[in-house]
Amino acid sequence: MRSIMVLNAKGGSGKSTIATNLASYYADEGYRVMLVDFDPQHSSLDWLAVRPAGMPGIIGHDASEGGFRSPRNADYIIYDTPAGLRGKELSSMLRRAQSVIVPILPSPIDMRAATPFIRQILDNGRVSRKETRVALVANRCRENTNVYHQLEDYLRKVRKAPFISVLRETQNYNHAAEQGLGIFELPPYRVQRDLELWQPVLDWLGSRRSQPVKRR
Ligand SMILES: Nc1ncnc2c1ncn2[C@@H]1O[C@H](COP(=O)(O)OP(=O)(O)O)[C@@H](O)[C@H]1O
Ligand SMILES: [Mg+2]
Repeated sequence: MRSIMVLNAKGGSGKSTIATNLASYYADEGYRVMLVDFDPQHSSLDWLAVRPAGMPGIIGHDASEGGFRSPRNADYIIYDTPAGLRGKELSSMLRRAQSVIVPILPSPIDMRAATPFIRQILDNGRVSRKETRVALVANRCRENTNVYHQLEDYLRKVRKAPFISVLRETQNYNHAAEQGLGIFELPPYRVQRDLELWQPVLDWLGSRRSQPVKRR
């Protein structure tokens, strides 16, 4: 079983977007997928509620009231999380996942907030022992903007966590989300560029690099 979490201290960085897209991607691949929403705003569960009955199914779980225990019968568990996690809450969240994706927006405010957050994550015991693996993704990027280049420079310099992809700003995510779909389920000609940008994320998640290092 693979457990994947999307995490950032900031709201609006694309956590729910990435969580729901990952869930639909793995469901389309034929896996049994559970989408666990720790955010009281329930964006992922709202998305799931409008997912068409004919699409590959995803099991939703509301974990915002606490008391969630990992099931054993899913191939993929995708965790969506609330903004503002820190301290003990953050460490107990990190314990649940093998792989953590941190989406970061190209905005001065988001980048400033990301610095202490990434440090907290990388200082976490599980993360430094590589029992939970972390990767960084730039989201909602527009090429040829200064702030995007600043974000890229910044993420490249983070040691101990790979910077794996740059997802672009596009209405495709909104079009998909309003129908309960992932971008992988939109007409391929519309999302070709986005699928290319997602590939490194899927490659990382499919590789040993995103999985716990087994200790002897
Ligand atoms: N790459 C993107 N391009 C365009 N819009 C995006 C992109 N990523 C996220 N959004 C939009 O930004 C808003 C916030 O994203 P969301 O995934 O809800 O963030 P979070 O869960 O971190 O609060 C949503 O309206 C979402 O559709
Ligand atoms: Mg959200």
